Amino acid sequence: MAKTKTFYKCTNCENTSPRWIGQCPNCQEWNSFVEKVESNLENNFLHNKTSINTEKLILKKLFDIKTETQDRMLSGYLEWDRVMGGGILPGSFIILTGDPGIGKSTLLLQVANKISSNKKVIYFSSEESLQQVKNRAQRLDIPENSNLLFSDQSNLEAIIQVALIEKPDILILDSIQNCSLSENSSVIPGTVGQLREAGFLLCKLAKENNIAILITGHITKEGHIAGPKVLEHIVDGVFYLQGEDKWQTRILRSVKNRFGTIQETGFFEMGTDGMQEVPDINRLILHEASENPGSALISSIEGSRPLLLELQSLCVTSKFGMPQRIITGIDPKRIILIAAILEKYLHIKFSSQDIFFKVSGGFKIKTTSCDLGIALSLLSSYFQKPLPEKSISIAEISLTGQIKPVNQIELQIGEAEKFGINKIFISKSQKLKSSSNTISFKNIYELIKLFPE
Ligand code: TYD
Ligand code: MG
Repeated sequence: MAKTKTFYKCTNCENTSPRWIGQCPNCQEWNSFVEKVESNLENNFLHNKTSINTEKLILKKLFDIKTETQDRMLSGYLEWDRVMGGGILPGSFIILTGDPGIGKSTLLLQVANKISSNKKVIYFSSEESLQQVKNRAQRLDIPENSNLLFSDQSNLEAIIQVALIEKPDILILDSIQNCSLSENSSVIPGTVGQLREAGFLLCKLAKENNIAILITGHITKEGHIAGPKVLEHIVDGVFYLQGEDKWQTRILRSVKNRFGTIQETGFFEMGTDGMQEVPDINRLILHEASENPGSALISSIEGSRPLLLELQSLCVTSKFGMPQRIITGIDPKRIILIAAILEKYLHIKFSSQDIFFKVSGGFKIKTTSCDLGIALSLLSSYFQKPLPEKSISIAEISLTGQIKPVNQIELQIGEAEKFGINKIFISKSQKLKSSSNTISFKNIYELIKLFPE
């Protein structure tokens, strides 16, 4: 009979060792090594001794696979439902994460209450007592006769038992970091190992019983273990609740979604009676936009909809040999690159200018369709001349100074026109169905005509 070999594995960083050690040499964690049995899989295959019963494995053609369409569970909060990919899919396993105090519990309680009007929802509050949950619910005007079921159970095995008996449509666990596994589990509480084990158990529960599971997790500061990052590959969806813009709005963003688009955003505002939806964020942004020199409007596609944002630049002659570049909201290299292209082809000495640049409202953008907007914002500040009123730029710029087309232009133009924007700067080679409000440019030499003497 083949001898089973054992080894020791760190539950924190997965480092292995042939013998037990008190402190992991890799992650410096104490008492993190547990005994593991080496897998015999390789051995079995080599000696053709596999114990898997292949008779039960049936291979199917696409035609033979049953089509199952499941209705998504809607909360009625359009911002939430859209980010989820059109509601929560039964049996999906998702995590909502964000800084402590950002409003995860508040938002979940509101959403859970709405869904509980026609679905069975259980809310396990492992962080707060039932009294605290009740106080919050009263603040949020959730009626006492709401169908939502609550428990402050934090032991994961007990939670799973309850779920198997009650068979809810949605199980909410707030938060996963506060849950404990049973005492005889070999992994240490509060470690990555435990979080991962809890993740696997919940994933199994969700898939085998068609229960949608929604868990929350705090982002822990660097160096702290047991962050929700380790769960990202197990779950079907990762959603971040962030609050970085200046209106104190909370942005719900899909970072991973097996059943919907990613980078989809939903906007909420935290008020005295909970999270209110902000359905028209673009109106709020445009209301604040100025028409002064240095300001340029751009559009950035977030998930399935465009955000209209204002870029602001300030260019002043540098007093030092090394000009300053103070840039927020976008990769600084992008601004430096566009400034270099303008310098090369238009002979404007941006290299002797200090450049201060920001995306207004505290938003962060990654899109390259804002290139033209960056160029016009820089030129507008340099010449101290405002861009034409009610204008927006949607185009990329190549290293050779050509103005390039972008994707999903119709959608972006449609959104801009909704707010009365009637001068849409695009590339001459952009293909369009209708173009009554567009002004097109072939290369950056043509931009100068926007700044007449
Ligand atoms: P919470 O949902 O507990 O955050 P998280 O679960 O992400 O840690 O929100 C906590 C903050 O929100 C707290 O500072 C109080 C504030 N708050 C409001 O401003 N209005 C409200 O209606 C509620 C319930 C909370
Ligand atoms: Mg909370």
